Amino acid sequence: MDERKILIFDTTLRDGEQSPGASLNTHEKLSIAKQLGALGVDIIEAGFAAASPGDLDAISEVSKQVKGPIIASLARAVKADIEAAAKALENAERKRIHTFIATSPIHVEKKLKMSYDAVIDAAVDAVKLARNYSDDVEFSAEDATRSEWDYLCKIFEKTIDAGATTINIPDTVGYTTPQEYYELIKYLINNIPNIDKAVVSVHCHNDLGMAVANSLSAVLAGANQVECTINGLGERAGNASLEEIVMAIKTRKDFYKGCYTTINTKEIYKTSRLVSKLTGIRVQRNKAIVGKNAFAHEAGIHQDGVIKEKRTYEIMKPEDVGIDTSKLVLGKHSGKHGLEERLKEMGYALTKEQISEIFEEFKKLADKKKEVYEEDIRALVDDKFKLTPQVYELVSLQVVAGNAASPTATIKLIKNQEEFEDAAMGDGPVDATFRALERITFVKGKLMNYDIQALTEGKDALGEVNVKVYFPDIDMAILGRGTSTDVIEASAKAYLDAINKALMMM
Ligand code: KIV
Ligand code: ZN
Repeated sequence: MDERKILIFDTTLRDGEQSPGASLNTHEKLSIAKQLGALGVDIIEAGFAAASPGDLDAISEVSKQVKGPIIASLARAVKADIEAAAKALENAERKRIHTFIATSPIHVEKKLKMSYDAVIDAAVDAVKLARNYSDDVEFSAEDATRSEWDYLCKIFEKTIDAGATTINIPDTVGYTTPQEYYELIKYLINNIPNIDKAVVSVHCHNDLGMAVANSLSAVLAGANQVECTINGLGERAGNASLEEIVMAIKTRKDFYKGCYTTINTKEIYKTSRLVSKLTGIRVQRNKAIVGKNAFAHEAGIHQDGVIKEKRTYEIMKPEDVGIDTSKLVLGKHSGKHGLEERLKEMGYALTKEQISEIFEEFKKLADKKKEVYEEDIRALVDDKFKLTPQVYELVSLQVVAGNAASPTATIKLIKNQEEFEDAAMGDGPVDATFRALERITFVKGKLMNYDIQALTEGKDALGEVNVKVYFPDIDMAILGRGTSTDVIEASAKAYLDAINKALMMM
């Protein structure tokens, strides 16, 4: 059987970040990009340089700091966009400019209001200009699946002649079906005369829930690059999910005729968690591959089968995607060495001082909880070593609440070794806490979303709070996250996290 490598083009930081509520700052994008490097993706689309100065800055940082994968920036087929992309990618070890223009009648006639010939000219000019900055240029025909097939052949032939090294056939509105997409890809491969000079790429959205199926169908038809996102994040219903594509190709290598990717699948779960944490977008429990229940067996008959022989009900090994089945980590009596070993196994490279700090926190947690799970440890580390520099830190929190008292929160924060204390009343303990934080920091926000969940099982589980706060002073909504066994403390940490991020932008 001939082997065929499928390139994985990750667009979590571009199309994924376009999903409502998923905006990320440069620190966060950089940390996801580094993890995508560890995951082994071939291409990281780090953003859309012309969209905002923040996007340009993030692409530029990723280009400087992430070596290995090709770094790409999106650009409309216009001069200014291509120049912005080129500028953002200046320091990349390997770079790609990804330019696009729409080709479907509805987009060409109603949105672009251009003639079909003018669209081809714009695409050709854009590719030629991009080639002045990079030998690696991708051209996408936006809304390809609702475009005339022969028109697609023409625009792709001309853009390949102009220097495009990858041509992408997006199902922009998630409209196609596996059979139809298969036929389209085959048609293009068979009817574009110079197709051998470019990589054929696919990019599917999930509006009808078929993004992964459509992408895999295109692979069968001969596509060699799949564009996808971690956790299937993306515009509207999202993009094709990277983890599902990769694990389908790996698990069904027999069916996908020798196709393979060079993804380090053991990094999948960690990447999924990081993206979920930083975007604040939770992974549904029954999500394939990375959902909490993906490898859980509830029914007695299934449990019995799995105990006798795992393969009765498991087609993949949880370890292969980096899920640790022996989740129980440590208890109250565990020592520092045990914790240090476990942290290493979990992929953390911490200094001796950092390990000591985590050990202190771990001891406090182990006093409150009988058993400490890997999720708990991860939350402790993530909480302690925030990616965003912390302006204020929480020193203490005292809350009076109940159905016979006016909820009041008294909070002490520290900033540059100086302590600040204040109190506030509110509609409930959480509201009072948020008001007290605002009084101390002089930062006013409007709570837009509040979300709480238990990280592990049991009444003593760590609670994780995610908030989204709108700050009128910077006209921006920011995500904050905090964890604690006390849900009010977790709420305070989450709100303070958002305030700290806002302060960095003021
Ligand atoms: O969905 C789409 O068409 C896109 C292109 C810009 C590639 O994201
Ligand atoms: Zn898209």
